[in-house]
Amino acid sequence: MPVRVKYVTSVLREHHERILEALAVLDKALNAERPDPDDIAALVSFLSKFVDGCHHSVEEYVLFSEANRRGFPFEGPIYVMVSEHGVARYLVRILENLYEAWRRGDESAYRDLVDYARLYADHISQHIAKENDVLFPMLEGSVAEISPNKSVEEIEREAEHEKWLSILEELKKKYA
Ligand SMILES: [Fe+2]
Ligand SMILES: [Fe+2]
Repeated sequence: MPVRVKYVTSVLREHHERILEALAVLDKALNAERPDPDDIAALVSFLSKFVDGCHHSVEEYVLFSEANRRGFPFEGPIYVMVSEHGVARYLVRILENLYEAWRRGDESAYRDLVDYARLYADHISQHIAKENDVLFPMLEGSVAEISPNKSVEEIEREAEHEKWLSILEELKKKYA
């Protein structure tokens, strides 16, 4: 089914808002006087399941690759964005390892967890700004419609999009 690029980018911009909220909550959770391990685990999982499993999948399977098929070049901004997804995935692996080390009693791992969470937040915030302000407007201006194999909604359903949004809502209230 053909879908308008502007529709897909509007969904992705909405995801970006939620991702930035999750990063703000993660920062508060990590810097709390008595950090709650369950909340931190949930937020690190959010980065793996929602950001990587859902959001980056929609960008890579639906928007970027289909725009490439319609003649939008791979070299340039799409190449940069896909590379940055790889860096984000790598940083989440580190966060997962540091979290496990901290839970096993390695106190110094906590400081590293805080540092790497900042690095991740800086990386993804800059990445989102590039997509919102540069790549998405370019795609919106040069490709009207795409015909992806999977719809945005299917990917969201498979990645339990709604579940992760409600987890985020609860944590936003707790750390408001
Ligand atoms: Fe992206
Ligand atoms: Fe994005």
